[in-house]
Amino acid sequence: MFMTLKVCHYFVTLRCNDACEFCACWSNEAYRAIEEKPYDLAPLKKAGIRLLNITGGEPLLRADLPEILARAKAFGLPTVLTTNGLLYEERARELAGLAGRLHFSLDYPSAEGHDRSRGVECFGAVLAGLKRARELGERPLIQFTLTRDSVRFLPEMVELAEKLEVPLYLNPVYDFFGTQGFEPRTLDQIKYFARRRRVLANLAALEFVRAGGNSTLLPRCRARETTLTLLPDGRRVSPCLFNPGGREGRESVCSSCMRWPYMLPSFSLGLDRYFWLNLYSELVNKRKLAGSR
Ligand SMILES: C[S@@+](CC[C@H](N)C(=O)[O-])C[C@H]1O[C@@H](n2cnc3c(N)ncnc32)[C@H](O)[C@@H]1O
Repeated sequence: MFMTLKVCHYFVTLRCNDACEFCACWSNEAYRAIEEKPYDLAPLKKAGIRLLNITGGEPLLRADLPEILARAKAFGLPTVLTTNGLLYEERARELAGLAGRLHFSLDYPSAEGHDRSRGVECFGAVLAGLKRARELGERPLIQFTLTRDSVRFLPEMVELAEKLEVPLYLNPVYDFFGTQGFEPRTLDQIKYFARRRRVLANLAALEFVRAGGNSTLLPRCRARETTLTLLPDGRRVSPCLFNPGGREGRESVCSSCMRWPYMLPSFSLGLDRYFWLNLYSELVNKRKLAGSR
């Protein structure tokens, strides 16, 4: 089983200083109550984990984040850290050189749109963070969560990424209060922009959206085999954060699921079109990232 493990999603904190319109994490009191404790990362590497995805909540709220990243680095475990950027300026120095990649979330290419979407003022912090990260020699990118509303600003977001000279990762929204998915023509438009040099997308994800996500009768989810989920206190949940202890891909919460942190690694198992599209996208994205260093 371990040979199929790809990604560890480490929710270092489930506290958040944003109030995003498409994510309920910040309003979940049970999440906020979870203690944050040190966790020994050594077994992850031995278990075959190839990527440590540091997420939350807002990871920069976790005091010992630099230690966590330094340990992962010492074990040769590649890391991705995703942040809303609010605390980046004050923590940039202590984090410098520790994360493999830094993803700054940006939902709209304007302060008006992004700050509304996030429920707090943070557009300026993201732009300043991207600039600062580049000055410090980091490899930042913009992670754009596309909703039915924000997709209208895709051309402007591509322009902004080009102006800032950073890659742009297109992340279609999932579980958006029941309004999942995009019109077929919108998906074609996203695919059109995905051909741009700085734009990264996953074609398997876009086709999975078109197909309506996971089916509970014939689940495509392989979260249990391909991912490992760690909570802030070091507890492990399986198959995923949203379905702890449940049957993989078969519970009601799995109906139409498109939660990419779990679905993308799932596509690495099973030789269907999602497997091939995912493999192709991974190769193309890797080449684009290498070209944008
Ligand atoms: C859950 S956040 C945690 C890290 C950090 N607080 C941030 O905002 O970047 C990680 C990423 O997931 C995205 N995200 C949150 N809810 C989502 C949803 N319903 N669908 C798709 N992506 C989502 C966010 O936009 C962000 O880029």
